[in-house]
Amino acid sequence: MNILLLGSGGREHALAWKIAQSNKVDKLFIAPGNAGTAQAGTNVPELKATDFDGVARFALDHNINMVVVGPEDPLVKGIYDYFQNNEALRGIPVIGPSKAGAQLEGSKDFAKAFMLRHNIPTAAYATFDGEHLDEGLRFLETLRAPYVLKADGLCAGKGVLILETLEEAKRELKEMLGGMFGNASSKVVIEEFLSGIECSVFVLTDGKDYKILPEAKDYKRIGEGDTGLNTGGMGSVSPVPFATKEWMGKVEREIIRPTVEGLAAEGIDYKGFIFFGLINCDGQPKVIEYNCRMGDPETETVMLRLKSDLVDLFEGVAEGTLAEKEIEFDERAAVCVMCVSGGYPGAYGKGYPITGADIPGSVVFHAGTAFGADGQIVTAGGRVIAVSSYGATKEEALQKSMQGARNIQFEKKYFRTDIGKDL
Ligand code: AMP
Ligand code: GLY
Repeated sequence: MNILLLGSGGREHALAWKIAQSNKVDKLFIAPGNAGTAQAGTNVPELKATDFDGVARFALDHNINMVVVGPEDPLVKGIYDYFQNNEALRGIPVIGPSKAGAQLEGSKDFAKAFMLRHNIPTAAYATFDGEHLDEGLRFLETLRAPYVLKADGLCAGKGVLILETLEEAKRELKEMLGGMFGNASSKVVIEEFLSGIECSVFVLTDGKDYKILPEAKDYKRIGEGDTGLNTGGMGSVSPVPFATKEWMGKVEREIIRPTVEGLAAEGIDYKGFIFFGLINCDGQPKVIEYNCRMGDPETETVMLRLKSDLVDLFEGVAEGTLAEKEIEFDERAAVCVMCVSGGYPGAYGKGYPITGADIPGSVVFHAGTAFGADGQIVTAGGRVIAVSSYGATKEEALQKSMQGARNIQFEKKYFRTDIGKDL
C-alpha cells in the first residue's frame, strides 16, 4: 500500500523509519518532511500538513491508501473529519482522532472535564474565562504555592505557567485572560500542583480496543540536571524503571481503559495514538495532560523498542481489528540524545552544514534539517538531529548515543549528557 505521513520533525522521521521497514508498504511519502525522512521515503516539501485541500489532492493523485498524522495541528483542525465527510476520501483511513477526539489535547478544559466525568485521576482544577477573572483571582487565594496556570488551547508547548508566588500567579492570570496567548488563553485552567516524576505512556486505539506501546520519559529543560528553559525535548529514555508491571497495571485500569471507554461512550471517533502525560505521585499515577499524537522526542526511543510491524497495527486501527493483533517489544533499553542549535530555545542561527551523521550501531533521526542549495544537509531549526541507540542497560545506550552526538558536527552544536541518569 501507499502511505502519506504528515509532519516534519524527529517524531516523523522515527515513524517514517519504522513504517519503511514494513513489507506492506510500496511507497511512503512524507509531507513536508525533512532531510532525514528523505532516506525513508519521498518528501513532498511543498505540501503543508494543515493544507487539507492539498493533502486530499495529493492522496487522490498518488493512490494513497492511508494517511498517518504526526503532529497535533491538523488533528485539532479536523483532518479526520475532512476525509470522513468527503465521499472520494472516505475510503482512505486517517490514523489520528476526529476533531472531537483531538480536543483531549486541543482544549485543556475539555480534557479536565472528560477526566472528571470518567473518574480518571488528575489534579483538582477550575476553569475561568475573562468574564470571571475576579472569581479566578479568589480561587487562586484558596490554593497553596506553586500555582499552575494552563491556557485552554494549543500554544506550541508554551501555554503552561508554574508560578511560585500568589502575586505572580494573579498577574499572569490577568495577562493570560487578557490575551497573552491570543484566543488560546481566552479560558485558563487553574490546577493543583502535583509533585512526582513524569512518564509518557502511549496507546494505539481503534476506538474499541487498544495496544499499549513502550513507555518513555522525555527531558524538557535545556540544561544538565533538567535545569534552565523549557525546550521541545532534549532526549528520551525507554523503558522507565518506575513503570513496573504493577504500576502499568494501575495505569491501564484507572487511566487507559476509562479513557478509551469514555471516548466510545461519548460517541467520539478515535482511531489513532493517545499520549498520556503521567506523573507518579507516591505510586499513584495521575494524568498531567493528554496529547492526541505521539510524543517528540519519545517516539525516537519508542519506535526502537517496538518490534511489531507498525503498519500492520495501523491496519488494525483502520479496520477495527486491533484486538487481533500482537504487539511485541524489544527488551533492550533505548536512549535518544538530541543535538540542538547553540542559543536554543532562544535565538539561534540556521543553515550550518551538518557532517558526521552516519553513525554505525545507532539510529539517527533528523528533526530540524533541510537540504542546502548544493544538496548538503544543513541545520534548519532549534532541535536539529537526534541519535538513538540500544543498550543492555540505559547507561550503555546513553554512552552510545553520546558518542554519536559527539561525532555529529555543526556550528554551535549542544546536547545534554544526562539523559536517563535521574531514574
Ligand atoms: P502540559 O503542557 O500540561 O504537559 O504541562 C507542561 C509541563 O508542566 C508538564 O510536563 C509538567 O512538567 C508541568 N505541569 C503541568 N501540570 C502540572 C501540575 N498540575 N503539577 C505539576 N506540574 C505540572
Ligand atoms: N515530549 C512531549 C510532547 O511531545 O509533547
